[in-house]
Amino acid sequence: MEQLARLYHDHLRVLNQRVSEIISRENLSGLIIHSGQPHRQFLDDMDYPFKVNPHFKAWLPVTDNPNSWLVINGRDKPQLIFYRPVDFWHKVADEPSDFWAEHVDIKFLTKADKVAEYLPDNIDEWAYIGEHLDVADVLGFSRRNPDSVLSYLNYHRATKTEYELACMRKANEIAVTGHQAAKAAFYNGASEFEILQVYLSAISQGENQVPYSSIVALNENSAILHYTALEHASPAQRRSFLIDAGANYNGYASDITRSYAFEKNIFDDLITAMDNMQLQIISMMKPGVSYAELHIQTHYKLAQILLDFDIVRGDVQGLVEQGITRAFFPHGLGHMLGIQVHDMGGFLSDENGTHVAAPEAHPFLRCTRELDINQVLTIEPGVYIIDSLLAELKQERCQSQVNWNMVDSLRPFGGIRIEDNVIVHGDRIENMTRNLGLSR
Ligand code: GLY
Ligand code: MN
Ligand code: MN
Repeated sequence: MEQLARLYHDHLRVLNQRVSEIISRENLSGLIIHSGQPHRQFLDDMDYPFKVNPHFKAWLPVTDNPNSWLVINGRDKPQLIFYRPVDFWHKVADEPSDFWAEHVDIKFLTKADKVAEYLPDNIDEWAYIGEHLDVADVLGFSRRNPDSVLSYLNYHRATKTEYELACMRKANEIAVTGHQAAKAAFYNGASEFEILQVYLSAISQGENQVPYSSIVALNENSAILHYTALEHASPAQRRSFLIDAGANYNGYASDITRSYAFEKNIFDDLITAMDNMQLQIISMMKPGVSYAELHIQTHYKLAQILLDFDIVRGDVQGLVEQGITRAFFPHGLGHMLGIQVHDMGGFLSDENGTHVAAPEAHPFLRCTRELDINQVLTIEPGVYIIDSLLAELKQERCQSQVNWNMVDSLRPFGGIRIEDNVIVHGDRIENMTRNLGLSR
């Protein structure tokens, strides 16, 4: 913890430098960052789970306190206006005493609508950064989420500080504990619902604390890319298991996927092939490499695997160019990771916000940036039997290039995805997930 506290101090210095640069360019006195407000459910007196503004939690690991504010001038200690109402219905946040508290100036706000009393007088010179434009309006902000400021912050956010890297290693460590427990539960006969409970209990985080809805899928369900339905009953026959689940540490996310076969069979061999291929792609990462190019290379490698397993016929080039590999691997290779699972900034090629779209043939790719030092990305190739996509191949000239018998025999296993979280260093790649011993 002492180490983390030291790194945190440096982290704040870097964030302050970024703010100092952008406010001087934009002629601002500073940024006022709103943690957010609860969202009420329609026709109800209950709120949805609170999700904090990512620009707020970039500064401090407070993820569960709406109506709080940061006043940042790029020079001084951040000022934290910390919400502590008199409230006997809900848990009131404790007075901060963690490692970060001494690095910020804290004032307590007891009534959410009295925040104006704590904000600077010349509010027009400050930019509001947050979700609630109506609140910003009432407070008198004329500059709300300026594009230039958000682009600058989102672009630079891709470069993680040492504090952030330490948090993300820890988020991986926590998730890996859960993955190991979930794997054991799968081989012991648990249902999807039970496996998720085992996972959450092993990492000691609730469903609203993990960074995204965990995917726990048995058999055919593992071909549904965002499967979150969770069957309570165990399937009569247990064939395969895909788990895409992360953990949160100080607001930072891990995002890890593993695939398992219940028995040694061709699906197990296919997992081994995908696993080797994923590691090959990771070994190609270094500063200067285009992430979109890695995605394309993944398609060529996948084409070879599909040929090796007699799933398709033809040649590698043709299989990629005709979109046949895309029917088996429709999503992107991965994305930037950080305070958000899909961290902002993946499409920004410069700090002014120049957007580089995904290639037309690969619309779901979430990152087109060049890799650089201290970026964190996921690498998550997959292969799935998705009938709606394969049906399109049937209608096209490619029908004869697919071995439909092999597709039929793989369908009951669903699909495979293998996802690690990787740091790009100047002289090496750090695979946080594998370093913790989570192999296949
Ligand atoms: N779990 C979300 C993703 O892998 O992108
Ligand atoms: Mn991911
Ligand atoms: Mn994932």
